Order: sequence, then structure tokens, then C-alpha cells
Amino acid sequence: MESTSLQDHPVFLVDDERQNLTLLRMWVEKLWKLPVVEFDNPQECLDNLHREPSLIILDIMMPKIDGMEVLRQVRERYPHIPVVMLSAQNNIQVALDAIHIGAYDYLQKPVDRDRLEVVTRNAIRSFELAMELRTTRQRLEEGKLFSSIVSIDPKMKSVFELVRKSANSHVSILIQGESGTGKDLIATALHQLSHRRDKPFIIVNCAAIPSELLESELFGHEKGSFTGADTQKMGRFEAADGGTLFLDEIGTMEFKLQAKVLRAIQQKEFSRVGGLRPIHVEVRIISATNSDLQQMVKDGTFREDLYYRLATFPISIPPLRDRKDDIVLLAEHFLERSIDREQKDIRGFTKEAIIAMTQYNWPGNVRELQSVIERAIILADDHIIGVQNLPEAISAQARKFDATDSLFQLQSANDLLPFELFKKSIIKKAFELCDRNISEVAQRLNISRTTVYRLLEGEDTEGL
Ligand SMILES: Nc1ncnc2c1ncn2[C@@H]1O[C@H](COP(=O)(O)OP(=O)(O)OP(=O)(O)O)[C@@H](O)[C@H]1O
Ligand SMILES: [Mg+2]
Repeated sequence: MESTSLQDHPVFLVDDERQNLTLLRMWVEKLWKLPVVEFDNPQECLDNLHREPSLIILDIMMPKIDGMEVLRQVRERYPHIPVVMLSAQNNIQVALDAIHIGAYDYLQKPVDRDRLEVVTRNAIRSFELAMELRTTRQRLEEGKLFSSIVSIDPKMKSVFELVRKSANSHVSILIQGESGTGKDLIATALHQLSHRRDKPFIIVNCAAIPSELLESELFGHEKGSFTGADTQKMGRFEAADGGTLFLDEIGTMEFKLQAKVLRAIQQKEFSRVGGLRPIHVEVRIISATNSDLQQMVKDGTFREDLYYRLATFPISIPPLRDRKDDIVLLAEHFLERSIDREQKDIRGFTKEAIIAMTQYNWPGNVRELQSVIERAIILADDHIIGVQNLPEAISAQARKFDATDSLFQLQSANDLLPFELFKKSIIKKAFELCDRNISEVAQRLNISRTTVYRLLEGEDTEGL
């Protein structure tokens, strides 16, 4: 989230006359206690716009670039930054023209201190409002995005934190995680949360494209450059210009092509297959893999230089079996999503089914869980999904888990509880059965001690 503290947004003063700058600086500093940056060369002001000043006070008559041109560029690139023009007395018409093209206000030279105070107060306030609006918009956008990514696991919370922090930067991001853990979802979130969200998000699945075609897919080709290339074609790098290029399953890319990709990323330049003309692009690279790229580097099958280029900012998604609390949450999420489509009235899972799913190790992660639920919905005869509706490999877990009988004593498959209540009741029972020994509860249910404590909240755990 970007900061809205005004201290991070200095006031820019731009005038070719040094004395004017000195006086204005003194006044502005005194009035608003804000950092002030002076420029006697307007080009330098333009080069520093990325610092997002809260206000620019800009002289109109300057020798190299005139104030009107600077104003135009600010309006185009940073329309939320207010610009106050300084005009000489015989120049009022120009000042009015400036307001017409978007200046916030103007000050007549010699500047009157009281008028300066009023004009700059309003201008800075308008900048603050624009920043607040932007933050609110970003929060809304984030909320929408993250609500489609279901998780309560603290490890996933840290993943979201990394996504939030890195989304707006230019660095390359490598998302690592087993198959089906949600790498595509995270890549999409990174693009959507970045300022590139209105620019293209181009996905290239390196594993799905035959390796002899991947080069032309990425870089495009000229007509006649190889058999079958009967028209000129634009590549995915070019299509992604200004936006994000998502190289999925990067671990499957051939060694030879890796060198070309590295060059394209480093030099922001490449040529089409069969072409000579260099093409410049500005793309943000996100890549994903379910292979251990570091091991591949050691084995000599993945280029070390490309690895470091791609993994400037690595994000690892933990497998589903390492975030047990997410299993049930996701199962309920997929159930809710699918029952409407299937037009069935299914209200939840039996305790046994929940235990079986929690104990299973989910090699196909979230994708596997999703298809297990979709299949179970079709199979279920009742209003509830039971172990008999789950694949054998999963339902076997309920039987294997010997604590099931002793700890939970299932009375009827139909006593369905909201999940949180259900967990609390399990923990309470386990707590008594384990002689109020928290470590044993944690160990036998394969959950953390912190979770046990949380679920026992309100119970008498004093002195444990
Ligand atoms: N936390 C989550 N919340 C909701 N849905 C999720 C979550 N994680 C994954 N999914 C869903 O699970 C499926 C698999 O996710 P995704 O395609 O992002 O995985 P992946 O890591 O890219 O898999 P692969 O390695 O096979 O490409 C998708 O349908 C996705 O929407
Ligand atoms: Mg994927």
C-alpha cells in the first residue's frame, strides 16, 4: 500500500531565477513544514516527477522549456499533482490559459504571502484527497481480489503480504509451488494489483507449446522464416509491452531458448525469428514453476544467470497438506460454488468426511480438492457429503486415523455443525480425552499448539 503521508511528497519549486526560489522555499517551509525541492532547470523537475510532489509551483517564463510545456507533461503523466503557475503581471492571459489546460491556480509576481498561503493550502489538500481516493480504490481492488483467494493459513497470509508489497515494483517475480497450489491465481493477483492492471497480461505456458515453436511464440517471426511461417507474426513479448508477461512452467524451457529469453529480459530488446530489426519492449516478468529450479541449476539443466534474473523476488506457495485449516475452508468454498450449478441441496460434510480430507496428503493440492468436491456433489444422495462420496484414497484416511473412534465418537453422520463450532467441539473432547494435555492434543490431531489454544478459548486452560 502506498503511503499517504505528505512528508513523502515534497513541494517542487521551479523557476530560473534563484532569488525567487529562495524566498518561496522559506515561505512554503515555514507555512507547511513540508520538504521543498528547488529546480532552476525545468527538465530536472520533469525527470523527478516519479517522486510525486504534493504541489509544483511553476514559473511560466523560462528559457529552456517554458512553464506551459512542463504543465502539459505533468497533466499527462501525473494528473493528480496540482500545479500552481507563477506569472508576471503582464502575463495574466497566459496564466488563464494555463488554468484552461489544467493548472490548479496561479500566483502573480511579486508573490503576496497571504495569497500564497491560501492557494497552496487548497492545492496541497486537493493532492491529499487524490491520494486518499487512490488508497481507497486500491483497498477495494485488493479486497475483491483476495476474497476470491480463500485461505486462513498464516503461511498464506505471508504470501499475500509479499504479493501486496511486490505488485507495484518492476522486479521479476518467481512463483514456486507444487502443481495446483494456486500459482496462476497469485500471478493474476500480482498483475491486477500493479499499476499495469489496464495493460496486457499475457500468459505463455512453456510446457504446453512444443519447444520448436516456443521461440516464435515468444518473439514472433517474419514471413518465410521457417516452414509454415506464411505470415509475419507478433510474439508474446511484444504483445505484453507495457504490461506483464507470465511465463508459466518456466522449468520446462529448453536450455538454448533460456539464453535468448535472458537476453530479451536484460536488454529489453530482441528480434523476431528470421528478422534483424531490434524490437524494444517494457514488460514485467512473472514466472512460475513446480520444479526445483535451484536443483536444476546444480544439475546443469537450467541457466544460473536466468534463474537469478527471474527470481529477484521469489514467492513460495506452501502445499495444501501443510495448511490443514485451508482444506476445510476450501472444501466449503468449492461446495458453495458448485451446488448452484448442480442444483442440489447439499449443506455440508460429515465429520468423518472432514477428518478424511484433513488427513489426506493432497498431491494435486487445491486443484485436486476442487475436483474431489465437484465429483462428491454429483455422487451424494443425501443433503450431506460423506466419506462414501470421496475417492478411496481419501476415505481410507478416516479409517486409518485411529483417533476417530476414541476421540470423536461419531454418533450420526448427520449431525452437521458449522465448521468452527465443530472444530471447537472436537478439540474440547480431545482435550478431556488427553487428560487436558495440550501438546498431546496438538500432536494427535496434527495441528499446532497455537490452534489448540485458539479453539479452546473460553475454556479453563489456566496453568497449562
Ligand atoms: N486459495 C485458493 N482459493 C480459491 N481457489 C484456489 C486457491 N488456490 C487455488 N485455487 C483454485 O485451484 C485451481 C488450481 O490453481 P492454479 O491453476 O492457480 O494452480 P497452479 O499452481 O498454477 O497449478 P499448476 O502447477 O498445475 O499450473 C484453480 O481453479 C484455482 O482457482
Ligand atoms: Mg498454473
